[in-house]
Amino acid sequence: MEEREPVATRDENTVTSSPAPVNTLAQLRVGVAGAGFIGTVHARSARLAGATLAGVATSTPERSREAAVRLGAEEAYATPEQLAAAEDIDVLHICTPNHLHAELAALALEHGKHVVCEKPLAVGTAQAEELIAAAARSGRVATVPFVYRFHPVVREARARVRGGELGAVRLIHGGYLQDWLASADDDNWRVDAELGGPSRAFADIGSHWCDLVEFITGDRIAALCAQTSTVFPERAAHANVRAFETAAGNGAERRAVTTEDAVTALFRTASGAHGTLIISQVSPGRKNHLHIENACAEAGVRFEQERPETLWLGRREGTETVWRDPGTLGAEAGRLAVVPAGHPQGYLDCFDLFVADSYAAIRGEAPEGLPTFADGARSAHLIDAVLASAGSGGWVEV
Ligand SMILES: NC(=O)c1ccc[n+]([C@@H]2O[C@H](COP(=O)([O-])OP(=O)(O)OC[C@H]3O[C@@H](n4cnc5c(N)ncnc54)[C@H](O)[C@@H]3O)[C@@H](O)[C@H]2O)c1
Repeated sequence: MEEREPVATRDENTVTSSPAPVNTLAQLRVGVAGAGFIGTVHARSARLAGATLAGVATSTPERSREAAVRLGAEEAYATPEQLAAAEDIDVLHICTPNHLHAELAALALEHGKHVVCEKPLAVGTAQAEELIAAAARSGRVATVPFVYRFHPVVREARARVRGGELGAVRLIHGGYLQDWLASADDDNWRVDAELGGPSRAFADIGSHWCDLVEFITGDRIAALCAQTSTVFPERAAHANVRAFETAAGNGAERRAVTTEDAVTALFRTASGAHGTLIISQVSPGRKNHLHIENACAEAGVRFEQERPETLWLGRREGTETVWRDPGTLGAEAGRLAVVPAGHPQGYLDCFDLFVADSYAAIRGEAPEGLPTFADGARSAHLIDAVLASAGSGGWVEV
């Protein structure tokens, strides 16, 4: 295979005092901060949406250079802060560990960039609310990848539930179960509260579940009673392991764990529906088992992320499988069905559709269902409520 030229690192101080004009009509120039699992996915989706991958930055200049070569970016930046302030970047995608999200998003907005910031948007509600205000002041587009919204059958469920044809939502249940941290030998930067924030499992994947429940129903979780569980009070110290990678060796060195492995909760919504949820990163055999079931007055509707081509629709008279078929779906689901029925659409397609809609918003369009910083802040409120409830042992209003 032909070897690529080494990529030069931009390490001059590029911080400017006023926002640079943003390129909305020409090809967008995109920077990606953090190039692990999801940074790689963002870079791919940005390209597919027609953007130029102009810059990449990770934890060190060397790693930035390696990532720029791997992803085919024009330039490697020595630090994510320099990328956030660079004059010739229109959109910053923030894909670093959580503790850097808010600071980088604020810096990028200050420098006139549009921002796509990974969840959790911020560690804490105050920071998240400040970012909403900063995004509004800047007039830039600011989105958060709650990408499961972009499964066409999720839009179909949303249209049917909100359209009223299934009747009032009475009960909501489900969860998000994984197993990649199911052993005390598993570790990741997310385990460390300094890097990931005080909530782990809930902030990482419970946030997606709650966003999806509220997106589908149009209702809001108004109060909850949660318990957290940390199955392993100590884990092997392998903090540099990337998400879903298995560390070599079983790590003789151990470190104390303060973040939760699992959350179970009862909740009620603003309109009076009752619900239960279970979130876990220690459920053997479960990979990305995000599942939501709504019992409405006339029918039940269930979505499972690992079977994204179908919805289950249950009635007393019988059950039905609704397929992701552009020919039969409603308008909004049909818009997102990018391949014919029978060719499965999945997670990466959700990302592509989310990024394409974020860029459409930059061009002045108003795509339906685009998750913004307001949704990121909403999630921060839910995370705080879960931690407060687990701490007090009682119900907490959200
Ligand atoms: N929306 C989704 O579906 C989804 C899925 C996975 C991850 N995420 C989010 O994306 C973020 C990254 O997760 P991941 O799974 O890709 O993690 P990862 O460990 O695979 O990658 C993290 C990247 O950040 C870089 N990094 C570490 N410290 C840094 C620093 N100080 N400055 C700059 N870069 C640094 C690492 O070098 C690596 O490239 C997290 O916030 C996570 O919550 C979202």
